[in-house]
Amino acid sequence: MCGIIGAVAKDNIVPVLLEGLLRLEYRGYDSAGLVVANYGLQRLRTIGRVTELDKLIVKHKTNGLSGIAHTRWATHGAPSERNAHPHYSDYSGQDSKIAVVHNGIIENHEVIRKRLQELDFKFISDTDTEVIAHLIAFNLRQALNLFDAVCLSIAELQGAYAVAVMDETKPGYFVVARNGAPLLLGLGTNGNYAASDASALLQVTKNMVYLEEGDVAELDCDSYRIVNCLQGKTTETVQRTVHTSKLSSAAIDLGPYAHFMQKEIFEQPGAVANTLEMVLNVQSISPILFGNNAEKIFLQTRNILILACGTSYHAGLVARYWLETNAGVSCTVEIASEYRYRDPIADPETLVVAISQSGETADTLAALEYAKSLGHRYSLAICNVAESALIRQTDLRFLTRAGPEIGVASTKAFTTQLASLLLLSVTLAKIRHKLSSGHEDKIVAALRHLPTALQLALQIEPQIKIWAKKFASKHHALFLGRGLHYPIAMEGALKLKEISYIHAEAYAAGELKHGPLALVDSDMPVVAIAPNDLLLSKLKSNLQEVHARGGELYVLADADSCIPQSDGVHIIRLVEYAGLLSPIIHTIPLQLLAYHVALQKGTDVDKPRNLAKAVTVE
Ligand code: F6R
Repeated sequence: MCGIIGAVAKDNIVPVLLEGLLRLEYRGYDSAGLVVANYGLQRLRTIGRVTELDKLIVKHKTNGLSGIAHTRWATHGAPSERNAHPHYSDYSGQDSKIAVVHNGIIENHEVIRKRLQELDFKFISDTDTEVIAHLIAFNLRQALNLFDAVCLSIAELQGAYAVAVMDETKPGYFVVARNGAPLLLGLGTNGNYAASDASALLQVTKNMVYLEEGDVAELDCDSYRIVNCLQGKTTETVQRTVHTSKLSSAAIDLGPYAHFMQKEIFEQPGAVANTLEMVLNVQSISPILFGNNAEKIFLQTRNILILACGTSYHAGLVARYWLETNAGVSCTVEIASEYRYRDPIADPETLVVAISQSGETADTLAALEYAKSLGHRYSLAICNVAESALIRQTDLRFLTRAGPEIGVASTKAFTTQLASLLLLSVTLAKIRHKLSSGHEDKIVAALRHLPTALQLALQIEPQIKIWAKKFASKHHALFLGRGLHYPIAMEGALKLKEISYIHAEAYAAGELKHGPLALVDSDMPVVAIAPNDLLLSKLKSNLQEVHARGGELYVLADADSCIPQSDGVHIIRLVEYAGLLSPIIHTIPLQLLAYHVALQKGTDVDKPRNLAKAVTVE
């Protein structure tokens, strides 16, 4: 979702702001803007891509030594230049403007807006951000300096947000604040920076300070200072650790690939190998992989409650089968945005597992908080971002080491989540004495083989390209799976709809004749996941039902699934049945299918319309 970058340096910072915005593009946005201090504040805003903003910069020859910039993903008010950030407010007549950029949502913006309108503040946009600008301006009118005015203002704001603020009368200086949305400082040799995502700052520094909830920081070219306003306004400076980011610029570069999604699909063997590195090195499975206290907590765990959204939710659905079958632990999987508004019955011995690539998904964070407040004693995060809010909020954690995922459609995050959850299930199985040492060796051997198996699965790309040509003219598609491949069918349908805009639905194949079969005709491609598992014979009957009604079948079978190719039945054969690993391997062709259909249709693969990478608002 929205992205923020701010910079104050000894040289022109406009190229840094622009490069930072480009690095933040993956999060999703619909308009962009910046403001720089150069004999007053100079603001440029545009709807559309950062490249449009670049054209404006060239046209206006914009430059300066300090500035803040933003990519906006519309929440309050349509995408338009008027609603794009930065927003201005004037605090004492001419040449005393402040400019504000903001991520997140201000929940009490209407109340504050009303009050400020009564004080004669004029609102030009439909955004909640403008409320922040006027509120800070109001506090500046009370003769506070910018830093104090920001501290005072954020004490009034409710919601999850990150902001950056500049004052026209103070060039070479800006203030940032965070509460619920990510924000970090970058300490460079040539200046100081702030951004909502480390990837925006790697171009200038690897030295990062992660702000905590309630932190307000002021930056100039040579120094920075942080105070924490969580308990109200204070002047006491707090020290935060300076981290050296391990992210490499290469990890966020496209390299030889056409799209980040393509790059990330092909990175999966490596991403899974990294994620499982510790297991593969020691050749045995140990609870310590999930944290120091994991053994104690796992021994007290009777059930598991998984909370997640979107693709991460699908990973949770697969995990349920593994947890029940391997470890004999009962498991429920909940869509985080639904769970947080129900009255579920909590059980202190049910371990809450929150799954999130970004670790910043607002619904998942809120659902976790809610679960804890209801009485769940322990929680575990499965997450791809070490510095995320989620990682800080659980007792146990397992980092998927997929590397930065830039494509909006999640791919390598999903398969690394699956690998981690499989590991969780066998760890619990071991601790509950449900795993003989022979069985453990076999599982470790299977996990060792997983990167190679994924590599082999990627080799079917040429066959998928042929299928993709047939899909490109379709408007709908059905995806079928049974057992633990049903969530994989759901994930395949999600990938296709989000990047190719083809309407796709997934069904547990046994459900077909309870309704969706009515949709099947020659215009409805039906993708079936057909591993050679215990449910294959059942699935074959379901496929017959489709074939008999003129449906076109696209079957992802195992080498040993024994399904013959015929008129209207297209088969791609993967390797032989991969047992526990099968759902992870069957994910690959579905990702490739979505990718190649999107290519055929010419959609914006990495930035599908209306979507954002990290959904930091409700
Ligand atoms: C789909 C996709 C989303 C995310 C969802 C949760 O390709 O990426 O459905 O999975 O928004 O995001 P995280 O995992 O960051 O919590």
